Amino acid sequence: MKALTSLAAVCLSALVLAGCGGSDDAPAQPQVIAHRGASGYLPEHTLGGYELAIRMGVDFIEPDLQITKDGALVAIHDDTLNRTTNVATLFAQRNGGYKVADFTLAEIKTLTVIPTGTGKTSYPGFTPSAASPFTVPTFQEVVDFAKKQSNAVGREVGIYPEAKQADPVMEDGILKTLNANGYNAGSKLFIQSFSDATLRSLRAKQIAQNNKMPLILLGVATKAADGSLRMGVVGSTSVTTLTLQEVAGFTEGVGVLINNTTYPLTKAFIDQAHAAGLKVHGWTFAQADATLAAAEFRQFLDMGMDGMFANYPDLAVTARNTYVQGK
Ligand code: G3P
Ligand code: CA
Repeated sequence: MKALTSLAAVCLSALVLAGCGGSDDAPAQPQVIAHRGASGYLPEHTLGGYELAIRMGVDFIEPDLQITKDGALVAIHDDTLNRTTNVATLFAQRNGGYKVADFTLAEIKTLTVIPTGTGKTSYPGFTPSAASPFTVPTFQEVVDFAKKQSNAVGREVGIYPEAKQADPVMEDGILKTLNANGYNAGSKLFIQSFSDATLRSLRAKQIAQNNKMPLILLGVATKAADGSLRMGVVGSTSVTTLTLQEVAGFTEGVGVLINNTTYPLTKAFIDQAHAAGLKVHGWTFAQADATLAAAEFRQFLDMGMDGMFANYPDLAVTARNTYVQGK
């Protein structure tokens, strides 16, 4: 198993979003992706956090996926449990730590997810509907929750799973779950990874299964010595680059770091990605100040960005709606 690099007032929006995230008739308006849920407000990767984000009007919820000891896919960012859960108060270390891969799903289900960053254990005026809103959900539970919430809010809630391990077990688990739940090329769905090898493998398996669901390659914008703009694939010790045309050969879009210090994400990069047929999503919008956040969202929306991973979903939805209404 190869771990992938990790760079690392509720708005009951009445806006009904037509269309699907990955289909040819995708909506023109930029999409808001709840980065790890409403992670700026509530414990990340929990049904409670996803629900708050949905109530704030997001288009997609984002489960990062890890594999348990017994092969279950669970929504958690790290390959360890100790940063985001109370595992250390309930279990002794295993193999010198708390790797997700060393714990069974049953054991992980006994844990409580704790707030990180600016997150809290509750949000004013919001009561989660789930029976266990702050435990670690399985991928299937996230899928079920998105469908249930879609009915509750009257619009389709998309899912945007990330393969956090470059592992065939991860690839097969994602595809098996999505296939079993009726997802296809027209679904409001993106599958993301920092690994181009994982995405190439997923694409090959999708073709073999006759179900080509949309893929997103995560990384950074780069500028080559010849001046061409390329996608940087971030490895543990180095960044390799691919032309945007190469990326378009196996994905539908790119997810790009918005504040890369080596080479900034530019309008030229977004234009060239679009010309190659790629959507461009940006991560991570983490500005908590409403005024500063509005300016940052606007900067990238004006460049033509198609989707935004946001820690404060309400700020992202407000900025997106203001942008769309002003067009
Ligand atoms: O998946 C886009 C963004 O979430 C990547 O960062 O580390 O939060 O998964 P990370
Ligand atoms: Ca992610």
